[in-house]
Amino acid sequence: MRDVAIIGVGCTTFGEKWGSSFQDLFVEAGALALEDAQLSGEKIDAMYVGNMSAGRFIEQEHIGALIADYAGLATRHIPSTRVEAACASGGLAFRQAIIAVASGMEDIVVAAGVEKMTDVEPGASTDTLTGAADREWEGFMGATFPGLYAMIATDYMHRYPLTREQLALVAVKNHYNGARNPIAQFQQEITVDTVLKSTMVAEPLRLFDCSPITDGAAAVIVAPLERAREFTDTPIKVLASAQASDTITLHDRRDISTLDATIAARERAFKIARVTHKDIDLVEVHDCFTIAEICAIEDLGFCKKGGAGKFTADGETALGGKIPVNTSGGLKACGHPVGATGIKQVFEVVQQLRGEAGKRQIDGATIGMTHNVGGTGGTVAVHIMGVL
Ligand code: COA
Repeated sequence: MRDVAIIGVGCTTFGEKWGSSFQDLFVEAGALALEDAQLSGEKIDAMYVGNMSAGRFIEQEHIGALIADYAGLATRHIPSTRVEAACASGGLAFRQAIIAVASGMEDIVVAAGVEKMTDVEPGASTDTLTGAADREWEGFMGATFPGLYAMIATDYMHRYPLTREQLALVAVKNHYNGARNPIAQFQQEITVDTVLKSTMVAEPLRLFDCSPITDGAAAVIVAPLERAREFTDTPIKVLASAQASDTITLHDRRDISTLDATIAARERAFKIARVTHKDIDLVEVHDCFTIAEICAIEDLGFCKKGGAGKFTADGETALGGKIPVNTSGGLKACGHPVGATGIKQVFEVVQQLRGEAGKRQIDGATIGMTHNVGGTGGTVAVHIMGVL
């Protein structure tokens, strides 16, 4: 297996992008990544595109070919493949690109993610997202994603010492970081009061506990490590790529407040990279709801089970804390265009490791991690990256 490096990254701004089509979003992110790698499209050998549900959001399928065509690569006939794993589609597209380069099958590979979610009514977006759960046993019974994560929050708060205020502090911290990120959907700081007085969505989760509905795209370009310096002075090495699965239904889990797929992917990733949680300088976790960040930092091993509320309230996950979590603003404030999120997480970690994260820069960061979840934990991708 060959070592793999990231040689270029690009990301659109996230939000309700009325003026951009699905194709515009992808082409913009891809062009930014190519420019970053000082590369022309002719050098690309293959593409993997994370996308959850263009069929339902914009009535478009056959995304691999569509993207290659609009990227101007149709006449080169390169392999271009859509990857779908609900909200973990981006993380898995990144993993496929890494596997393609590591195996020696391809050299220069684009991993991208794109989703255009705001063109449908709220009921339709909620129903489309419910497709990431088990339609027969969860969706048809009335469960939505806010509803499923509300069950996790209720169970967690019953068993562990997490107060409503501590849960709100996850959103306060992520909005603080988002206010320092020029691509974020929400760039305003909020208080605990903002969260506690916002509209109830699914008890105990309120509007400001939820990630929003978002349009956006992101792209990263990977290459064999030995060729990376042909393209960039600041290649970032992929130290580990791990993926795990679990039951798609929440009720079949051993413990609904613990994502066993996160634990499995984390253990594999730490073993491959030969690091522990103590070596990680920052992590982008899948905070689709505030409770998801609480579970994630425990399941990734950054604090003990039941301790994440206090850990957050003590400022350990803030910029300058023991382990800065979601410096981008996370899904909560940066936004969550579901197929693009896993790639945006890599975009953020690369910016941090290159020292290009501006007002949210973690000084001296050398190793970063991403954690991307599909559904309530049926799929998890964990990646670890480091400076050379
Ligand atoms: N956080 C903060 N503000 C939000 C927000 C969020 N998550 N979602 C919407 N808003 C704001 C909007 O900006 C808008 O503000 P404005 O009136 O100042 O312009 C206002 O709230 C109403 O927006 P609207 O789009 O009408 O919200 P909505 O009620 O249709 O949707 C949710 C709100 C929470 C239901 C929706 O964002 C949602 O479904 N989120 C979860 C997404 C999800 O499940 N993702 C998959 C996870 S696995």
